[in-house]
Amino acid sequence: NKHIISIADLSRDELELIVATAKQLKQSPRPDLLTNKVVASCFFEASTRTRLSFETAVQRLGGTVIGFDSGGNTSLAQKGETLADSVKVISSYTDAFFMRHPKEGAARLASEFSSVPVINGGDGANQHPTQTLLDLFSIYETQGTLEGLNVAFVGDLKYGRTVHSLAQALSLFGCKFYFVSPAALAMPDYLCEELNQAGVNFEVVDDLEAVIPKLDVLYMTRVQKERFDPTEYQHMKANYILTAKMLANAKQNLKVLHPLPRVDEITTDVDATPHAYYFEQAENGVYARQALLALVLSEEFA
Ligand code: CP
Repeated sequence: NKHIISIADLSRDELELIVATAKQLKQSPRPDLLTNKVVASCFFEASTRTRLSFETAVQRLGGTVIGFDSGGNTSLAQKGETLADSVKVISSYTDAFFMRHPKEGAARLASEFSSVPVINGGDGANQHPTQTLLDLFSIYETQGTLEGLNVAFVGDLKYGRTVHSLAQALSLFGCKFYFVSPAALAMPDYLCEELNQAGVNFEVVDDLEAVIPKLDVLYMTRVQKERFDPTEYQHMKANYILTAKMLANAKQNLKVLHPLPRVDEITTDVDATPHAYYFEQAENGVYARQALLALVLSEEFA
């Protein structure tokens, strides 16, 4: 089974293949590719984009989705069933198992009990590999390359799993990183260590506006409210807010990305600028997840 648990499970060649396949499927839809395939979509934590774009991806490829959302009406949530037992049973009904869970390591654990490929749709503050696939596709689509870009990550770099996965992926492509966050929400030490060992050029900077003219990609994130107690969150939120005015000296090719949902870290006047790409990015979730499904499940693409 080819499980997709961490972005680090994928090589540079595999990432490039997924991006190329997403491009192909966006241009030429394949409504028959997953005929007779059943895919589980199991969300133990809230989601709008990841769940709905994944389920759209399956259905537009001709497959069928079963599963549940984070409402909790399952034997695991209501009757004390273990994740391991739930996964054993659900994987026996299906051809692939897509899941999101609030605990770090849950998808890895599930992969040990699943008889079919497990795809991680986000595990706590750890990893969000399929978000990274759509981020890479959006970067490639707008920049024409993944190579040698100047990329700033802004906001909650400590708990932002999308940041962790994307930084690991882009570290394979010689990009320069700028990390912009309150000190309490800085990139985790283990990731900085990993980037150092990989020889990645990165800087920690305070002044977002000063760094904008250097950038090709500005990756904004929200403070992960669900990982804080409410008082702590009040002190953390909205430290860095991007406005249209701050983009006055941006390079023409700069694209602002955000995994969404946004809270107040990008003002709505940015939406009308040519730099905003976050809604197109969210749409690309369908094509990136279709590409992954095609490569994991379709003999034609395998
Ligand atoms: N980007 C993202 O993971 O959004 P959802 O939480 O809505 O799935």
